[in-house]
Amino acid sequence: MIIRGGLLITAAGPVPADLQVAGTVIAAVTPPGAAAPSPGEEVFSAAGRWILPGGVDVHTHFGMPLRPGVASLGWRESSEAALLGGTTTIIDFANPEPGESLAQAVDRWLAMAGGACLCDFGLHCTVSDTAPERLAEIPALVARGIPTFKGFLAYKGRLMLTESQMGLLMTGVKAAGGMLLVHAEDGEMNAAAEQVLLATGRTTPNWHPTAHPPESEQQAVARCLALALEHGCPLTVVHLSLEDSLAALEAARQRRRDGGPDLPLIGEVCLHHLLADDGLYRSGHESALSALCSPPLRPPRHGRGLVQGLAAGRIDTLSTDHCEFPLAVKAAAAAGGFPRVPNGCGGVGERITLSYSELVRKGHLGPDRWIEAVAAKPAEIMGLSGRKGRLQPGYDADIVCFDPRAEGLWQPLGSSDRAGNLYKDLPVTGQVTDVWLRGRRVVDRGRLCGDQPGGEFLPRLLS
Ligand code: URP
Ligand code: ZN
Ligand code: ZN
Repeated sequence: MIIRGGLLITAAGPVPADLQVAGTVIAAVTPPGAAAPSPGEEVFSAAGRWILPGGVDVHTHFGMPLRPGVASLGWRESSEAALLGGTTTIIDFANPEPGESLAQAVDRWLAMAGGACLCDFGLHCTVSDTAPERLAEIPALVARGIPTFKGFLAYKGRLMLTESQMGLLMTGVKAAGGMLLVHAEDGEMNAAAEQVLLATGRTTPNWHPTAHPPESEQQAVARCLALALEHGCPLTVVHLSLEDSLAALEAARQRRRDGGPDLPLIGEVCLHHLLADDGLYRSGHESALSALCSPPLRPPRHGRGLVQGLAAGRIDTLSTDHCEFPLAVKAAAAAGGFPRVPNGCGGVGERITLSYSELVRKGHLGPDRWIEAVAAKPAEIMGLSGRKGRLQPGYDADIVCFDPRAEGLWQPLGSSDRAGNLYKDLPVTGQVTDVWLRGRRVVDRGRLCGDQPGGEFLPRLLS
């Protein structure tokens, strides 16, 4: 197949070119019109449109039950939204239950995703138990292509690690050649704030951000960066929500340059922390429920500061932390007080188009940096170099055709009962029109193609 007449958006800048696809991979990138189709070869006209590499969202929770009986929207629905929104690769988190081994959790996640996840997927593994037998599993997971692990400083009593447990985990991850992803909020501080709120009758979802104060993120970010430098462990600080967190990351990078260990210190930001703000907690019960995620949405200046950081490359990647629960599920849980509400919002279907509409089109982010942040860098950092995130010969033919001029009002992609869509009816410019996954058409003029065989598990290797 030849995709002809489009403007290729690459991390090196926009360039008019044609793409030749052979089977599942990109065979060549040629000057416009240079490639002659062989007899019977399909030629797809992308005139007037942009051609992007398939999006890579390295932070999703498609299959996460936050507590028994409360499951997120699930693999099929979330992966449909991903493809419709131009994301062809995700990395999800396998979360062991108490007493479960890391390998069992990974097997469970693979079983859930198999056949149900329509896009390609990799896995991170959460570690909330640092017993020696759990940490001893880390090298085997790295060997299975799962080289990234998540530790939580938040969620006291469930996932939270103490500082010494975090140190043990970092030591194990570093020794195995992996990378640690940290959810940086201080679980003790959040729990104390929550207790006071509940004891004084402030139980509705609008109090959620008060139980997740900025100081909690500031302290936890500083602590995990200090620990990473101390233990020499490659680190991604996920879902940065404060300008201050970015400043702390920059300071740690400076300490590294000043003679600290040579290790990746990566910063990730998620769509909702850029495009939505804490005003939603004051806009009624449903809005507050939709926006109930951790870290919470912050005052608008933080979003603006994080966008500047992303544009300058000080923040490396733009993900979603997609973890979407039906509104009815969130509402029912809220009857027991805001701490009972499962945390998370959507975004996997929105990430490419809304970041274009709000950031690229409005001049805050160059198209090259945009595509680097939503595809090329996340793939490279998370061990998918050579396969995902770029439009280059030999890479998987994960290709998105994007109309940068289409106008409309944003509508949720997928289910009609989506709590996490914070952007309903937002005026939007830009539309994903056609998508290929490993050379196979999966979205045709804005609609999912039928009979999809499902995505592949992607073993990863950090460079
Ligand atoms: O609110 C969130 N972020 N839910 C998903 C779990 C996590 O903390 O990443
Ligand atoms: Zn998190
Ligand atoms: Zn998450």
